Amino acid sequence: MAESDNTLMEKIVSLCKRRGFVYPGSEIYGGLAGIYDFGPRGVELLNNLKAAWWRANVYDKENHFGLDSGMFKNPRVWEASGHTSGFSDPLAECRKCNARIRVDKELGKIGVTADEKMSEQALNELFDAHRAKIACPNCGKKDFTPVRAFNLLVKTNLGDFTSEGSEPVYLPGEACQGIYLDYKNIVDSMQPKIPFGIVQIGKAFRNEISPRNFLFRLRELEQADTQFFIKPHQNKEAYEKIKQDRWNWYLSIGIREENLRWKQHENLVFYAKDAWDIEYNFPSLGFDELEGIHDRTDYDLSQHMKFSGVDLQYVDQESGEKFIPWILETSVGLSRMFLAVISDAYYEDELGGGTRVVLRFHPRLAPVKAAVFPLLKNKPELVAKAREVYLALKKDIPQIMWDDNGNVGKRYRRQDEIGTPWCITIDFDTLGETPDLKDTVTLRDRDTGQQERVAISDLKARIQDSLAQ
Ligand code: GAP
Repeated sequence: MAESDNTLMEKIVSLCKRRGFVYPGSEIYGGLAGIYDFGPRGVELLNNLKAAWWRANVYDKENHFGLDSGMFKNPRVWEASGHTSGFSDPLAECRKCNARIRVDKELGKIGVTADEKMSEQALNELFDAHRAKIACPNCGKKDFTPVRAFNLLVKTNLGDFTSEGSEPVYLPGEACQGIYLDYKNIVDSMQPKIPFGIVQIGKAFRNEISPRNFLFRLRELEQADTQFFIKPHQNKEAYEKIKQDRWNWYLSIGIREENLRWKQHENLVFYAKDAWDIEYNFPSLGFDELEGIHDRTDYDLSQHMKFSGVDLQYVDQESGEKFIPWILETSVGLSRMFLAVISDAYYEDELGGGTRVVLRFHPRLAPVKAAVFPLLKNKPELVAKAREVYLALKKDIPQIMWDDNGNVGKRYRRQDEIGTPWCITIDFDTLGETPDLKDTVTLRDRDTGQQERVAISDLKARIQDSLAQ
């Protein structure tokens, strides 16, 4: 059973690097805070997660449309969305060591709530009243600059940005804005009947002042979003249904229910009327936000209609009614999902008289579905048969791995650590040393360590059955 402490987080970070899941970004130059790269095993896990999420939110639903919108947008978009003015963290700087603190978070730790909508002045007054109780987490001093709102949007330039009058463009602060911009195109080209959904996996960038906790808080992230367009005021029932649907999805990918819980936001962000998080019990952090489910009402489309001057009303073909749809949103950071899935799958258990580390991924998520070995790599006849089995399986199940490094025991440990559900060993019996066992192999189950003799002709179905569950 996974512990929930700093040590576990350290073990996960180390396993992720050692086994090719996640590397620190720009590592040979000393890294860049808040940026990570997904290695060969990580990208497979990430792709499996995206495929499972896309299936649940596009293919298994009706009236849900996929989208992949461009990252750069007209700068007016971020004014309309409220991000240039409202997307900020309140920061103060320690006068001794220059460390910056999130004032709302530090106040929260001493039981004082800072409302997200508070003006800078009101927040400074609140901070002043409680300053004596807040120490710099870096040096322990209690001497801070006044609070300043620090905008999280990342600015850059396009084209001839040296000429006068050119203005910066922003990297997306949240991926969903692309959906609002293409809402009209989707209505015009697909003629969806309301209610309908638009679904996207897209990159977002946030100038987080203190990115931390491995994949939890990044500066470059990917968000998997669904925006569900409904008739005005028909939000209550649909919102509850969407919340339940998202909860059940985590259970369907094997997350343990005791590691999930709901949290309703007390302080709402500028666009939301109601907001609930699905929280996960992250190692070293405890329960914290995994996914946000927001009732955004008609805020976004009204803003874009006002700023662009384009009519974004939906016309109901049956009743002739014309209205701005309300939007219910689900949004999850894939890196947080990745961290939750790895943490949930991480076990240390006793097997064959020793301790092992095993990632008990749902087979659908496992980066490698099965590893094929020759019992001995210096026996050409075993290697030839094992290659034959490996290549035949790989045609139908691409995430199959060849492994002939070290002895079989070491291969099992390595495959357990990357969460491979099945190991297949080709031995002398496969070649017919025991005539009854000819053309059979040993199939080892990752979770129990048990081995059974299986006909080569049955292998594909055995593996595919486990993927279908
Ligand atoms: N469009 C709504 C939106 O962006 P959010 O609560 O700010 O809402 C949604 O973000 C999700 O994106 C979060 O629940 C979290 O999973 C992920 N997320 C947000 N900021 C993140 C960060 N700095 N690093 C990693 N994931 C993040």
